[in-house]
Amino acid sequence: MKPTKVLMVCLGNICRSPLAEGILKSKITNPKIIVDSAGTGAYHIGNLPDARSIQIANKYGIDITNQKARKIKISDLEEFDLIYTMDRANYQNVIALTTNTNHRAKVLMIMDELLPLENISVPDPYYGGDAGFEQVYAMLDKACDKIINKLNM
Ligand code: 4NP
Repeated sequence: MKPTKVLMVCLGNICRSPLAEGILKSKITNPKIIVDSAGTGAYHIGNLPDARSIQIANKYGIDITNQKARKIKISDLEEFDLIYTMDRANYQNVIALTTNTNHRAKVLMIMDELLPLENISVPDPYYGGDAGFEQVYAMLDKACDKIINKLNM
């Protein structure tokens, strides 16, 4: 069977999507599931995750310091099977890159896995305090449990 490839997407690829990548990877036991992350913006290309994301991941036993920010590219729409965006703006920006219904069908808001149709965004914690990162972590942890169940079906 060919691998299932999951891409986590936020704006900068330094706060939310690196956490989503790290959390999902930490729950995976199947080597046929591959996880990566990217940003819709180019501001932080090549950077490590934000220190606050590194710290909260660490608190829960996950190391994300092997990650480097990159920007989403058109070929990702072909290469990945599931593309999870953190918020509505990311969703719209990724959808704007798609050229066919097959690619569009791969793009989902990550919280829709937990609370379908409620349109919930994982809030951008970049300008907030540490409470924001705790909230982001808790939301992503729950969503990733759902994603794992879905992938293991
Ligand atoms: P992220 O957070 O999208 O969760 O990585 C942000 C990181 C950087 C910026 C915005 C959001 N920024 O404006 O530089």
